[in-house]
Amino acid sequence: MIHPATLIPGDGIGPEVADATVRVIECTGVSIEWERIELNAAIITESGKHLPPAVLGSLARTHVGLKGPVTTPVAGGFQSVNVSLRKQLDLFANVRPVRKLPGLKSRYEDVPIDIVIFRENTEDLYAGLEHEVVANVVTSLKVITRTASERIARYAFQYAKSAGRKKITAVHKANIMKLSDGLFLKCCREVSREFPQIEYTELIVDNAAMQLVMKPEQFDVLLMPNLYGDIVSDLAAGLVGGLGIVPGANIGERDAVFEAVHGSAPDIAGKGIANPTALMLSSVMMLRHLGEYEAARRLQSAIESVYAERKYLTPDVGGKATTNEFTNAVAAALN
Ligand code: NAI
Repeated sequence: MIHPATLIPGDGIGPEVADATVRVIECTGVSIEWERIELNAAIITESGKHLPPAVLGSLARTHVGLKGPVTTPVAGGFQSVNVSLRKQLDLFANVRPVRKLPGLKSRYEDVPIDIVIFRENTEDLYAGLEHEVVANVVTSLKVITRTASERIARYAFQYAKSAGRKKITAVHKANIMKLSDGLFLKCCREVSREFPQIEYTELIVDNAAMQLVMKPEQFDVLLMPNLYGDIVSDLAAGLVGGLGIVPGANIGERDAVFEAVHGSAPDIAGKGIANPTALMLSSVMMLRHLGEYEAARRLQSAIESVYAERKYLTPDVGGKATTNEFTNAVAAALN
């Protein structure tokens, strides 16, 4: 069977890790007919559209995407295409499994870390509703709705149930944002009652950050609104070896776009040393989504075997290999 899919390499290290990932997917023997769509700052500025129609058009045909990062200008410039894509396609659930890889040295060597983060992906402070009320006074609207909060909570609980997970921790700041985070929490509590077999706990986000650093092994599934999910994902990535290895999926009712947690890493772009593991593991999630379970399992175990051997790791995880050498090693393990 041939699966149509949209490939958005993005910019910065995006094309480097996307090419590497396409190569190892090919080695699994799964046939994917890629529609390759270029998306980067130059195209966005030139087209005057922050989400060029080619991107949405392709995803409307394929319903599945593999996406590299796209740079977003800081304090001004165009809106984040990543946020726009998630909103336009209603990719409401951002799922980020944070796990250690064999052989990887980390400060948490002897601590078991296996956390799945569920981040609401369509609202919160990412609504992009900002106003200058009067000169030098700016407001930014935090939008929290019952619909989106119930939806992400139910998705997380259903996942936990089917994956045999034991505990969900909702992360919030409802002591201060009593109405907005209060509503999010209320929805999580209500949904939790539908799943009595799963333990439900709550933590205020600042405490959650500290607990994650001090005792990460206590966490199983984390459930949170958009902004906390964004920040906590990077923190959690730091526990297991960094952004180079943590994958992700943006899931909607109809479409799904798989992308790593990391950004375009301008500091190492073009140097040939970006770690493609995070996008490769995102593609493992994509293969499962496509029903290609055996190929997903083989790719995952090929990546793990390269880590266990420690010979071809990229510099971010303590090795000396280039993106290419790592990719060759994964391809060889698959063949
Ligand atoms: P970043 O995630 O790009 O980089 C943070 C640090 O991690 C850098 O030192 C980088 O070299 C390292 N790193 C990230 N991915 C790596 C990889 N695969 N291999 C080795 N090292 C890696 O975050 P930063 O620098 O804050 O953002 C850069 C740009 O990316 C910004 O314009 C931001 O808006 C955008 N971004 C895009 C995302 C997306 O497209 N989904 C997500 C996050 C950021």
